[in-house]
Amino acid sequence: MISILLEFPRPIDIQQVSEWLMSLGACAVEVSERDAGEEAAWSAIASAHQQHLQQLESNTAWNSSRTFRVLLSSDVSPENFLMDVASVSDWNSVKVLSKVAVEEEDDWVQRVRESFQPIRIGKLYIRCPWHSAPETAKFSSENALVDMIIHPGMGFGTGEHTTTRLCLSWLQKTIRGGEKLLDYGSGSGILSIAAYLLGCELCHGVEIDLDSIRNAEENKHLNGISKNVCFYQPMEAPSLCYDIIVANILFHPLVDLAEKFAKCSRIGTQIALSGIIYSQAENLKETYQGLGFQFEDTIVEKEWCLIVGRKKESVE
Ligand SMILES: C[S@@+](CC[C@H](N)C(=O)[O-])C[C@H]1O[C@@H](n2cnc3c(N)ncnc32)[C@H](O)[C@@H]1O
Repeated sequence: MISILLEFPRPIDIQQVSEWLMSLGACAVEVSERDAGEEAAWSAIASAHQQHLQQLESNTAWNSSRTFRVLLSSDVSPENFLMDVASVSDWNSVKVLSKVAVEEEDDWVQRVRESFQPIRIGKLYIRCPWHSAPETAKFSSENALVDMIIHPGMGFGTGEHTTTRLCLSWLQKTIRGGEKLLDYGSGSGILSIAAYLLGCELCHGVEIDLDSIRNAEENKHLNGISKNVCFYQPMEAPSLCYDIIVANILFHPLVDLAEKFAKCSRIGTQIALSGIIYSQAENLKETYQGLGFQFEDTIVEKEWCLIVGRKKESVE
C-alpha cells in the first residue's frame, strides 16, 4: 500500500474532501489537525474502504490547516490519484507532504481487528468470532440478548460507528416480525443480519463493493444463516416491494437513490436514511417528500443523523 500525506488549505469540509478522496480511489483516509511546526497528531480517524466514510466527531469545517493521510491499495496508481486530486479546481493548492510505501493491507486490517470489543446496542450483542458468546443465563427471556457475530473485514459496519448504531436501534424499535427488508449499502451486512435475527422474514442487502459483499456473506454464515438473507450488486438486485428500507450511505448517493427506493416501496413502507450530517437532513427530506415519502422523526447523535419516515402516497 502507498500512504500519501496531503495538506489542504483552509477552510475545507472534511466530509466532502473525504468523500472525494474515496471516490478518487483511496481505500482509507485518516484526518488530523496540523499545528505549525509539529508532527501531525492523528486526532481522529475517518477510515473507510472504497466509498465508505466514517465521519469525524469534530466539526466539518475548521480554521487551521488539516492533513489527510490517504491509503491507496497497490492497484491504484499514486500518480493518477494525485493528478485527479490536482484536477479538482478548488484543490490546486493542496500540498503533497510525503508519499511512502507502508505495511501490507493485511497488517493494517489485523491492527484494526485487535481493537474490537463486543458492543451492546439495545438487545443486540455484537461480537467478533474470537469473542465468547454472552452469558444468556443472566437475562430473562424477554430481555434475552440477540447474539450476532461480525467479522471485521473489508466491509464497513461493525456497530462502532454512530450511523450504524442509529440504524440498529431504529430497527429494534421497528421490526415486528415477518417483514421484507432492503438494506442499501449493506457493507459488512450488519443491518441485514441484525434485521433477520430480530425477526424479518427476508433481508436483501445491496452493495457496490465486491469485497464488502464477500464480507457480508461470511458474516451471514458465521451467524448460521443460510437463506433469506442475500447480498447483491445493484445490477443483480431483484425488484421487489419491501416493507422496510434502510440505507446508511452518504448524502449524495441517497439523493441519487431516491427514485429507486420509491419504486421498491408501497404505501406504508418504512424508510430510514442515515450517513448524513444534521445540516443535510432537510435537503434529503425534500428530495424524498417529492416522491411521496413523509418523515416522522430525525434522530441526531453527535453531528450524525438518521431520518425516518414512510411512503404515504404514490407519485408518478
Ligand atoms: C457507511 S457504509 C454502511 C454499511 C452498513 N450498512 C452499516 O450501516 O454499517 C455505506 C456502504 O454503502 C456502499 N455504497 C455506497 N454507494 C452505494 C451505492 N450507490 N449503491 C450501493 N452501495 C453503495 C459502500 O460501499 C458502503 O459499503
